[in-house]
Amino acid sequence: MGVDTSTIRTVQVTRYVTPLREGGSLPAIAEADDGFLYALKFRGAGQGSKALVAELLGGEIARALGFRVPEIVFAQLDEAFGRTEPDEEIQDLLQASTGLNLALHFLSGAITFDPVVTKLDPVLASRIVWLDCLLTNVDRTAKNTNMLMWHKELWLIDHGAALYFHHTWDNWKEQASKPFIQVKDHVLLRQASQLEEADAELKPLLTATLIQHIVRLVPDEWLEDHGVQSPEEARAVYRQFIGARVAASEIFVKEAQDARKRII
Ligand SMILES: Nc1ncnc2c1ncn2[C@@H]1O[C@H](COP(=O)(O)OP(=O)(O)OP(=O)(O)O)[C@@H](O)[C@H]1O
Ligand SMILES: [Mg+2]
Repeated sequence: MGVDTSTIRTVQVTRYVTPLREGGSLPAIAEADDGFLYALKFRGAGQGSKALVAELLGGEIARALGFRVPEIVFAQLDEAFGRTEPDEEIQDLLQASTGLNLALHFLSGAITFDPVVTKLDPVLASRIVWLDCLLTNVDRTAKNTNMLMWHKELWLIDHGAALYFHHTWDNWKEQASKPFIQVKDHVLLRQASQLEEADAELKPLLTATLIQHIVRLVPDEWLEDHGVQSPEEARAVYRQFIGARVAASEIFVKEAQDARKRII
């Protein structure tokens, strides 16, 4: 697909506008020096920079597969920025987040996708389930859909809980070829009747070159606290993990089909 993932813009955060209350990771609406509003995800929040890595890789893989994802940018926070913030908790968060954070273009007026209100086409539902099985994204449930409707179209947000293997790094090779059993709680599983078609369409798009390209986007400073590995070694693990999941996609497709049979 002709999606250009070669560049991620960097903006300077100029104003903390307001917290996004639903968010478990204390995201906020912020304004940047390009005049736009963003949903800002802080590296100093609970899951640290790993959540930002997952957000970037998950979001850019989704975009490369043709899904609508708000533009992702790197958001630079200066050390001085938090000092004038009156709320102490927010001030702590800002100070712990000096440097590069991640921000998504804020879709003003978007509403949370509600499966009861909006019936999705089975092709799109199946593709989204396929994506989340690939990414091991546990965060697309009925309670918390992490999808937005904006101008009558569906947008994917919040991939921060994807690729959860990186919280331990343990036997990642084995984890790469595992089914994604949490798919049983996916909000779109019932509608996902075209999983084989989704697999046939999406799998060939995720070539080794594309994966490498997307993984290269992750900045060193988000990989430095990954523990044992250097940033380059950490990137190699992400690349191999994602590549192995794509290669073994029939395993997660079968699990999703089986889970679906149990609920319909
Ligand atoms: N780009 C955006 N445009 C409009 N609204 C957004 C955007 N990003 C996030 N939001 C709103 O902010 C909420 C929290 O954002 P997000 O889901 O990314 O954060 P989170 O901390 O990972 O959330 P949680 O852990 O609750 O799923 C979203 O549910 C959505 O309502
Ligand atoms: Mg969310």
